[in-house]
Amino acid sequence: MILVIDFGSQVAHLISRRINDLGVKTKIILPEDALLEIASVKPQGIILSGGPDSVYEKGAPTIDKKIFSSGIPILGICYGLQLMMYLLGGKVVSGKKEYGPAKLKIANLKSKITTGLPKESGVWVSHGDEVVQLASGFEIVGSTERVPASFIENAVKKIYGVQFHPEVEHTEIGNQLLENFVKLCGVTRETTEINIDEIVAMIKNQVKEDYVIGAVSGGVDSTVAAVLMTKAIGKQFIPIYVDNGLMRFDTNEHLDKIFKHTKIKVQIINAQEETLKRLKGITDPEEKRKTIGRLYIDIFEREMKRIIKSGKNVKFLMQGTIYSDVIESKGTKNADKIKSHHNVGGLPENMKLQLIEPVRNFYKDQVREIGKMLKLPDVFVYKQPFPGPGYAVRIRGEVTKLRLEQEKIADKIVLEELEKAGVLKDLFQSFPVLTGARSTAVKGDGRNFGEVVALRIIESKDVMTAKWADLPYNLLQTISSRIVNEVPDISRVVYDITTKPPATMEWE
Ligand code: XMP
Repeated sequence: MILVIDFGSQVAHLISRRINDLGVKTKIILPEDALLEIASVKPQGIILSGGPDSVYEKGAPTIDKKIFSSGIPILGICYGLQLMMYLLGGKVVSGKKEYGPAKLKIANLKSKITTGLPKESGVWVSHGDEVVQLASGFEIVGSTERVPASFIENAVKKIYGVQFHPEVEHTEIGNQLLENFVKLCGVTRETTEINIDEIVAMIKNQVKEDYVIGAVSGGVDSTVAAVLMTKAIGKQFIPIYVDNGLMRFDTNEHLDKIFKHTKIKVQIINAQEETLKRLKGITDPEEKRKTIGRLYIDIFEREMKRIIKSGKNVKFLMQGTIYSDVIESKGTKNADKIKSHHNVGGLPENMKLQLIEPVRNFYKDQVREIGKMLKLPDVFVYKQPFPGPGYAVRIRGEVTKLRLEQEKIADKIVLEELEKAGVLKDLFQSFPVLTGARSTAVKGDGRNFGEVVALRIIESKDVMTAKWADLPYNLLQTISSRIVNEVPDISRVVYDITTKPPATMEWE
């Protein structure tokens, strides 16, 4: 077993998952519980996660120094590395900032921690602080261009630190490095598999004789969650789709296909007018999310009352929340809040239904794997993710009927052209954003001061990191021409070439 100590990282769960994928059990704990947990679970290795704080600031999460003399191998990642150096007598300063891709050069290829690693590779970084002086006993193993102490070790004590993130998919050497660490810990590895029967049994156990209403959206997460629910409790599960007009242009059609295939009957509620009315005048991204979230819950409560009146005892609300939604909405104690995913952060405290979230502990690729295990067709399983607040977060500023229409036409064009070019299946998400900026264009012989559309087309697997897609220029040209010609009042199309981190996938 390896302990993962969470200092508020966006990716503590991902670190843990990568270690599980190597066949090793993990437990995520808070720093203040470290000594107790070490004494009780006797881990063979410890990983210190990243975190949003600066080690030298008052109130930053810390850990008892005794863990460094416990004899247990330790790997510090980002904040974990900085804290280790700070506590052991090194120096950490607000240094050269690095976000996104970087090149790592390994100076010592003979160490056990660098076994099988290439001399140079691409790693992903996201930090503002830097170690400028190592604690005694430590040596530099590798450096990036901006940060010399990017990979360090104390080989005698088996304590290691990396300033980059081995857990994210875009760090090329990530898996090998974690595997080397696991080997150094001497842990026995076992294969772990997703167990559908276990998930189904957990749902049955929680629900018993009651009814569950479920929010479905046609997306992978809620579809897989709905199929799991039906498998567990059959007709006690009542799926509902709230058509607030903010969902993808083809959602109704798609839902129809899904529920014909899975033989689940879905109730559709039309809330298009009501949604636009509530969003009138709102421009702040967080307020938009909260408003949509509140409306969504209001409608559910209304439906619940209607269903209860008809004699059914509804106690639960099912949602297709997945792990990345939870973590980005400040799901753990020390994590920074990035944005309120409406199915996590926006729920009102007085909500009368208990939540049931069958895929809450899984990442997108695992949810897809469950979908495949449930024998769902690829068109459902590989559908691009779409945010809960829908087009509202892709329209900067106020959401109006006209802007919603512009966004839908542009979205359809983007998807059509990517599909036609045969690249859609390799993309994680691809969508236009109405940026709110206006620019000058000449259309016919007249001046047009229309809106600027940004294309966000990205590759990702685990959602925590993403790269913009390196698409052929002629394909980008076709999309751009169609948007300025076919979408009313659009003056310009630009391509967003920012990685995540630092930029999130959505603009809001
Ligand atoms: P960001 O923009 O945070 O997006 O990098 C990560 C993934 O989450 C989706 N997303 C949401 N999903 N409710 C959701 O269910 C939300 O409020 C929300 N906001 C972003 C986004 O599309 C991407 O797949």
